[in-house]
Amino acid sequence: MNVLIVHNPLTDLDSLDNADVLVQVQAVEGALRTLGHECAILAWPEDMRQAGESLGAGIWDEVFNLVESIGGSAKTVHLVPAMLEEFGMAFTGASSWSLRHSTSKLLAKAVLAQHGLPTPAWLDIQGRGNIQTPGRFIVKSVWEHASFGLDEDNVVHVSSRARLLAEIKARRERLGGECFAEEYVSGREFNLAVVEQEGAPRVLAPAEILFAGYAKNKHRVVGFRAKWQEQSFEYQNTKRRLDFPESDALLLRRLSLTAEQCWKTFALSGYARIDLRVDAKGRPWIIDVNANPCLSPDAGFQASCVASGLTFPDVVGLLLQSAARQQHGPA
Ligand SMILES: Nc1ncnc2c1ncn2[C@@H]1O[C@H](COP(=O)(O)OP(=O)(O)O)[C@@H](O)[C@H]1O
Ligand SMILES: [Mg+2]
Repeated sequence: MNVLIVHNPLTDLDSLDNADVLVQVQAVEGALRTLGHECAILAWPEDMRQAGESLGAGIWDEVFNLVESIGGSAKTVHLVPAMLEEFGMAFTGASSWSLRHSTSKLLAKAVLAQHGLPTPAWLDIQGRGNIQTPGRFIVKSVWEHASFGLDEDNVVHVSSRARLLAEIKARRERLGGECFAEEYVSGREFNLAVVEQEGAPRVLAPAEILFAGYAKNKHRVVGFRAKWQEQSFEYQNTKRRLDFPESDALLLRRLSLTAEQCWKTFALSGYARIDLRVDAKGRPWIIDVNANPCLSPDAGFQASCVASGLTFPDVVGLLLQSAARQQHGPA
């Protein structure tokens, strides 16, 4: 098969997310060659009008889509699949509809609520939302991912809606311009990786993030430091766990079912990673639906694949099969 790998236009070679994209490109290229496919690599042009010419529709059997943003903003992430759909090209991962509706955390919450799936109460910067005060909330970006602009000081305890609105506005710039507040779920955090196999979602081994050595009053948040700053306390004290005692079996089953419901609700394809928190009553809450999870060898998605007996080339092979099966079109 002839496969074209497309990735973010690399504007700033030193930025962490650009470096991460290149790691994924190399890993995918290696796996494609292991599987006996021909491949080439293309940085998606910043100028969308150029994309059609650069892509060379007709030459490629499939496009492996690793574009996470154009112009540095995840708000544009769905444009690449939208164009590939227009060109009638087969591509890996989620459709433009699925990416748009899951990448916007506010749109995702609307979709989840509409389908009766558990999403924490929220308040947007215009003052719309269903939160009740007083309470503890986390202020998050609408579009950014990988915890950009997010750390434990985004968790606030407020006594009124007006106070919360002020906290949202104060963090607006750091969170990429659009942000909102969500009820803070203080319990355990899980990542559920899903791959598509024979046209159906297969939920892989659940992973829990353990906050080892955290003081009692320190908020347990997988923020920017925990994800990216290797020297930080948060990076060194958040550990991934993939083995669980029998007493967790019921909870894990519930998380797995919730992840499967997310897959169906967002019409996901290829792969996904759903982040959940569990409240004091043992109820799971969906906090992040990642329709294009990071494929870096050290990322959570890979860890769950390995724990489920899937090698990286196995996963790449499943993504190619899923792309061949899709008929992405307007939802
Ligand atoms: N409602 C919430 N309650 C508790 N923690 C949360 C909540 N939302 C986000 N977090 C924490 O912040 C981290 C990053 O938030 P998330 O919504 O997953 O954004 P990103 O797209 O940046 O990964 C989560 O992994 C979790 O630790
Ligand atoms: Mg997340």
